[in-house]
Amino acid sequence: MTKLLMETEKRIPTHVSIIMDGNGRWAKERGMERTKGHIAGVESVRACTIAAIEEGVKYLSFFAFSEENWGRPEGEVNSLMKLMFESMQKEFEMFVREGVRFVVIGDRERLGSTMCGVIDNVMEATKNNDRLTFILFISYSGKWDIHQAARKMAADMAAHPEKEISEADFGNYLATAGIPDPDLLIRTSGEKRISNYMLWQLAYTELLSTPVLWPDFGKEDFKAALDEYAKRDRRYGKVK
Ligand code: IPE
Ligand code: IPE
Ligand code: MG
Repeated sequence: MTKLLMETEKRIPTHVSIIMDGNGRWAKERGMERTKGHIAGVESVRACTIAAIEEGVKYLSFFAFSEENWGRPEGEVNSLMKLMFESMQKEFEMFVREGVRFVVIGDRERLGSTMCGVIDNVMEATKNNDRLTFILFISYSGKWDIHQAARKMAADMAAHPEKEISEADFGNYLATAGIPDPDLLIRTSGEKRISNYMLWQLAYTELLSTPVLWPDFGKEDFKAALDEYAKRDRRYGKVK
């Protein structure tokens, strides 16, 4: 029976993370402004969320805005912030209805109080939901995360010099504390780089790069990525 189950059941990743990329190119191909690509990309987030719930994925995270993205033209930064702000409010009902816990991770200091207010409201209202944890990384970078974790750890060590801090304990200082490391990382638009995303947490994540531009990435693409993941042999440096 156990053997039969192993042969027939698809291995589902617990945490799928996505670097959504290619919105600008998608818009350019259509002779539109870059912002139109970001707007179209919201539909892909929705499609992946539904697919993740259907497939039993427990954590779904998106790299929505990097620390480096603050360096884009002011108009694009503002329209991205507005889009995220409005989308959180719009999707709130769906999160409640579908039992989705909403989480935002990133450098809050750069986001402003209005944005943080909405984030806090939606996080608080959905905190007990456990069907899917939906995470948006906003104003986030992997180096920022490791740096802020090291600072917190140093302060803790100064206050409690006797304290032993293991590798696992270090993970608890990261902004992602309590969230399992990603099993699968998808990056759209054909790029093959991490772009300063979760540097610590991606240590043993399976990587998948697809040429599909983010606004074209739908439910079927998400499910195909899960099929590809199911075929991967995760060895963690050992011999099988
Ligand atoms: C991803 O699409 C969205 C963000 C990084 C905010 P891009 O805006 O990077 O699109 P390309 O890479 O220029 O096509
Ligand atoms: C990565 O995409 C960041 C996000 C998806 C939020 P970018 O388009 O900003 O990354 P680079 O510039 O290609 O590395
Ligand atoms: Mg890009």
